[in-house]
Amino acid sequence: MKIAFFSALPFEQTCFESYCKHHQITYIPEALDIDTVGKAKGHQAVCAFVNDDLSKPVLERLHALNVSIVGLRSAGVDNVDQFTLTRLGMTLIKIPGYSPHAVAEHTVALLLGLIRHLPEASQRVQCGNFAIDGLMGTDLHGKTVGVIGTGRIGRAFAQIMLGFGCTLLAYDIQPSQPLRAAGVQYVSLNELMAQADVVSLHCPLTNQTNALIGPLTLALMKPEAILINTARGRLIDTDAVLNALDKQLLRGYATDVYENEKSYFHHDFSEKDIPDNRLNRLRHHPNVLLTAHQGFLTKETLSQIALGLLNQFTFYENRQTQPTTQTSLC
Ligand code: NAI
Repeated sequence: MKIAFFSALPFEQTCFESYCKHHQITYIPEALDIDTVGKAKGHQAVCAFVNDDLSKPVLERLHALNVSIVGLRSAGVDNVDQFTLTRLGMTLIKIPGYSPHAVAEHTVALLLGLIRHLPEASQRVQCGNFAIDGLMGTDLHGKTVGVIGTGRIGRAFAQIMLGFGCTLLAYDIQPSQPLRAAGVQYVSLNELMAQADVVSLHCPLTNQTNALIGPLTLALMKPEAILINTARGRLIDTDAVLNALDKQLLRGYATDVYENEKSYFHHDFSEKDIPDNRLNRLRHHPNVLLTAHQGFLTKETLSQIALGLLNQFTFYENRQTQPTTQTSLC
């Protein structure tokens, strides 16, 4: 199968090529959008990532180019117009089962990095400054952690926090019985926001969760609380979070995602201007720890995504050409 692989990063190409036996992959560094969609011409499938645009006009153009399969390298599907995709009879493939631990563990890394001032501590040591004044942190043991969205990643994060000796609260439209059995208490969103010392977001971006954390929800939080977001930038009203930090109504914000990350994340802007004032406020705020959407980025996860997607491309290729043939690995 000929696959147009958009938003290709060099390390992804290395990983996919090491597993790919017979598909022909065209690695395209640009993101998929209405201006770049023409690059999919001559391919049967596209492979897209978190910041690629799979809205109605792009899908209609892909369909007109005879692309019938969309493979997603991300777990979230908020960038896909699934109604249009189904209407056009296109197939969506993704790897929902890839390691939730990668993102859960990155969430813990962000939390610890923020509350123990690790970026500043490391910078000081690099400069030969071994003073520790101003680096006082807080224990996590004994604190209350609120998890919003207890699917695969939220559950993995909650389990780690139980191991730290935290009390766990959760909010989800579909509570998890195993988590309840493990001692996690489900409460309303308002109760969680008011009681938690740490609030961590692990729900998908949908119409219901867009700007879930805004002025009203932030007003419920303890001024000493920490907010963490490794899910999607638009779950948060970033300006409201920055204002709460400035007014000391919130202690810290650690995040792997940003509402306008598409234009910047996964690219090197160190020699260029960044004309996004909101992003610049986040980057330079003393109480913010920001990474550029790397929660998924472990050896294990990347291998699972590559192998899983390539096998599914093979499955659909076999189904299209020889419906009765057994699938073989890519
Ligand atoms: P999942 O589908 O296993 O779990 C999502 C949970 O959110 C479910 O339990 C669902 O019931 C709950 N939920 C849905 N709507 C809700 C609402 N309105 N209020 C409260 N809870 C709600 O998804 P998974 O795999 O745990 O991933 C969660 C999110 O993490 C993804 O949607 C994606 O946005 C993000 N993600 C981030 C990555 C990163 O690299 N930073 C990598 C992978 C995923």
